[in-house]
Amino acid sequence: MIDDLWYKNGVFYCLSIGTYMDANGDGIGDFKGLLRRLDYLHGLGVTAIWLMPFQPSPGKDDGYDISDYYGVDPRYGTLGDFVEFTHGCRQRGIRVIIDLVVNHTSDAHPWFRDARSSPDSQHRDWYVWADKKPASANKGMVFPGVQKSTWTHDKEAKAWFFHRFYDFQPDLNTSNPYVQAEILKIMGFWIQLGVSGFRMDAVPFVISTKGAKVRTPVEQYDMLRSLREFLQWRQGNAIILAEANVLPETDMEYFGKDGDRMHMMFNFHVNQNLFYAMASADSRPLAKALAATEPRPASAQWGLFLRNHDELDLGRLTKAQREVVFKRFGPDKDMQLYDRGIRRRLAPMLGGDRRRLELAYSLMCTLPGTPVIRYGDEIGMGDNLDLPERNCARTPMQWSMEPQGGFTKSDKPCSPVIDNGPYGYEHINVAKQRRDPNSMLNWTERIIRMRKEVPEIGWGDFHVIATRDPAILAIRYDWRNNSVLFVHNLDEKPRETSFSVGLAGDEGKHLINLLSEDHSEAIDRGKHTLTLEAYGYRWYRVGGLDYLLKRRDIDGVNANHPE
Ligand code: NOJ
Ligand code: CA
Repeated sequence: MIDDLWYKNGVFYCLSIGTYMDANGDGIGDFKGLLRRLDYLHGLGVTAIWLMPFQPSPGKDDGYDISDYYGVDPRYGTLGDFVEFTHGCRQRGIRVIIDLVVNHTSDAHPWFRDARSSPDSQHRDWYVWADKKPASANKGMVFPGVQKSTWTHDKEAKAWFFHRFYDFQPDLNTSNPYVQAEILKIMGFWIQLGVSGFRMDAVPFVISTKGAKVRTPVEQYDMLRSLREFLQWRQGNAIILAEANVLPETDMEYFGKDGDRMHMMFNFHVNQNLFYAMASADSRPLAKALAATEPRPASAQWGLFLRNHDELDLGRLTKAQREVVFKRFGPDKDMQLYDRGIRRRLAPMLGGDRRRLELAYSLMCTLPGTPVIRYGDEIGMGDNLDLPERNCARTPMQWSMEPQGGFTKSDKPCSPVIDNGPYGYEHINVAKQRRDPNSMLNWTERIIRMRKEVPEIGWGDFHVIATRDPAILAIRYDWRNNSVLFVHNLDEKPRETSFSVGLAGDEGKHLINLLSEDHSEAIDRGKHTLTLEAYGYRWYRVGGLDYLLKRRDIDGVNANHPE
């Protein structure tokens, strides 16, 4: 049954092991600590955990520089601990996806050490070399301002090697069939240990042609099909969630016209326009972005996120739009990064304003896709701008009022716990919020529960409903003889708005509020008129709460047709 596609309608939670919870007291989060926190995640209601890199690594790019694909970094535990973790998740009905970082390795990886040792070495052709400095060496940096080039001379190899990211991350020659076979082997290994899929890092670069002679890199999309085919043979319900910040025109190349490539992609296009919408109180570009990313195979899904562990990349907005977002959410140079983004966490960006945080979360939960929450955002954690680059938003999870926020017994955590200002752990922590029925944490838990009760968002078709007011975004979803409707006011002022639900006959007459007793009845030729408070939001079911009695078991049946 198509309903088996678990990723179509869940709530994902992204965390990095090193900053989550430290059980053995060395200041570094570990699998034992995470295992003890699984009941917290279960209570929050998340359906899948996206675990960031935990394999052995020099840790120069927060683990995205792997030196052994088949192990667990000893600081985090052992393979045994990893399996205890995936088992613990399975016990609680939580799936695990892990990062698949195969565009590049660490320069400490034995493959690279072998490759650089001699032109005849077994692994030489696993990387991308040039005898002379390529003309394109100063182009295509992913981290402008920090990364100087994409080709670096290696003394030992007496040659230049290509690195799309930092110079300690040599690119794998992903066109080499041996490298491709190894990538499949890595996937097969972790699948066997209990994961349900992969968040694939830097997908456009993995599949692109690489080399000194490559002027314009070309994406070899068919590689995506081979990855999926392999995975599906090994485990039918495993998925790949692609990190690919690409233009909507190429989305279908990634999903595959027949749904035969990536199962999921992060919707970067909607993410940027969503922040623009919140910064400008103008929903029109967001509505356009939703329309532009609407086409996708029925089995594919978008990952919808607000913030992740990287900077908020605004590179695809127009310059004027980007300026608006910078001005509102990251006005100081220090808050910006790589000439294109903002490195802050969500709560400080939104001024710690509960109304705006709820609005942002409500949007994330009701736009087409599967929401992906960044750890700590559920309690409104802040950032530490004294830390370099993206590290500012990667501080330890704040569990309690205990020293180090209950993250570790050590007084030397791997990254400083935020311990001052309004976002310090004394104010913002899980223990305190757990006890407060009105806390952000309990609000998030409730909204997750409700999101799970509205499968129409994950499965249905959506229509943006015209309201003639750019500050208002109204979306209706239809699925299996039911409809739901969401209205958001992006503005800091209250708004009155009128709209028709857009369904035939009397269908849209009653709107039942899912979050409060404030329901709406149509007046004046089927029109609803609402007054939304500043940053207000409404979740409605169209019709009555007997929707489960009305729900059809299959798609595409006329609503008025008897079973
Ligand atoms: C994307 C990851 O999200 C980022 O954190 C990392 O630095 C690069 N890929 C390189 O792996
Ligand atoms: Ca530890």
